[in-house]
Amino acid sequence: MNLALFATDLKDRTYWLPQQLSEAAAETDVHFMFIYWLNVFFFVGITGLLCFFCWKYRRRTPDQKPLPSPSHNTTIEIVWSVLPTLVCIGLFYVGFIVYQDLMEPPRETFKVNVVGQKWFWNFKYPRTGLESPNELHVPANTPIELIMTSEDVIHALYIPALRTKKDCVPGRYSKLWFNAATPGTYNIFCAEYCGTSHSEMYAKLVVHPTMADFNAWQKSLEEELDKMPPVKLGEYVWKSKGCRGCHSIDGTKGTGPSFKGLWGMTRDEHLTYKPSTGAKAPSQVDENYIRMSINEPNDEVRDGFGNVTAMPSYKGRLTDKQINGVIEFLKSIGKNAAPAAPTKQ
Ligand code: CUA
Repeated sequence: MNLALFATDLKDRTYWLPQQLSEAAAETDVHFMFIYWLNVFFFVGITGLLCFFCWKYRRRTPDQKPLPSPSHNTTIEIVWSVLPTLVCIGLFYVGFIVYQDLMEPPRETFKVNVVGQKWFWNFKYPRTGLESPNELHVPANTPIELIMTSEDVIHALYIPALRTKKDCVPGRYSKLWFNAATPGTYNIFCAEYCGTSHSEMYAKLVVHPTMADFNAWQKSLEEELDKMPPVKLGEYVWKSKGCRGCHSIDGTKGTGPSFKGLWGMTRDEHLTYKPSTGAKAPSQVDENYIRMSINEPNDEVRDGFGNVTAMPSYKGRLTDKQINGVIEFLKSIGKNAAPAAPTKQ
């Protein structure tokens, strides 16, 4: 797992259209550019004539009377009605063909499950059951079909390099397909305003040159996750499972309490209350508290965080090994952690 991928690449930023990763992207651009230049032509033409006529037909002497203007010209009226109609029909036709290509997958596709969640993307590969949060890995030149849904609100998966975007709706599956031609790393964004950390809901599309490379990546991911020491695994979970959207590790107050110095807090420092009764239910930050906060986060809420967006339950979404990893990670940046803890940002 390449954690460096989470950084936004400066080189990917552009004021013009991003790289074309698929045939459909190229077709979309041709259509877009045609409409663009058509607009430029008419904008310049109409504005230019407007200015020219203002000058040409200006009043030359104070007592000049307006000349009578023609009230009707059948030929011109037919031309300016029929021509734009034909252009519009042509635009619709080309657009419809491109849209069909974008929406209709071929019969044989490589399928990946996508789940959008406040505020991260999870990608799951059905053949192996492997997951790669915030990284969508696919082989190049293979039709890929995404089976997408959401855990909470409506998100939208948007891959600019493919010029494709679709909503992920809770309780139903939407599908998106593409065929990426060039190996490399590309941006994925959430394109539907979905709450506090919508702007941080981005991921990477990694296109491997061949299916063999893709399989090799799957194998190495499997081995890497297997061998990862608990602290590293915890940090990985924090980065990849959406925790970092609300919980900082440098002491900054976010939507949720910072993880820095949390572990080891005494009852007085870390007051929580039960929202149903409002009763203070002070608890010590220990293994049980962390496990409870992951599985039933709204049973006890930290003082000062009662009015913000409720944290979703992670029950069943983290393995025991991952929860233990989180616990070890929190220990490493806890109240009495050694200064060499891996929290320096
Ligand atoms: Cu998810 Cu915006």
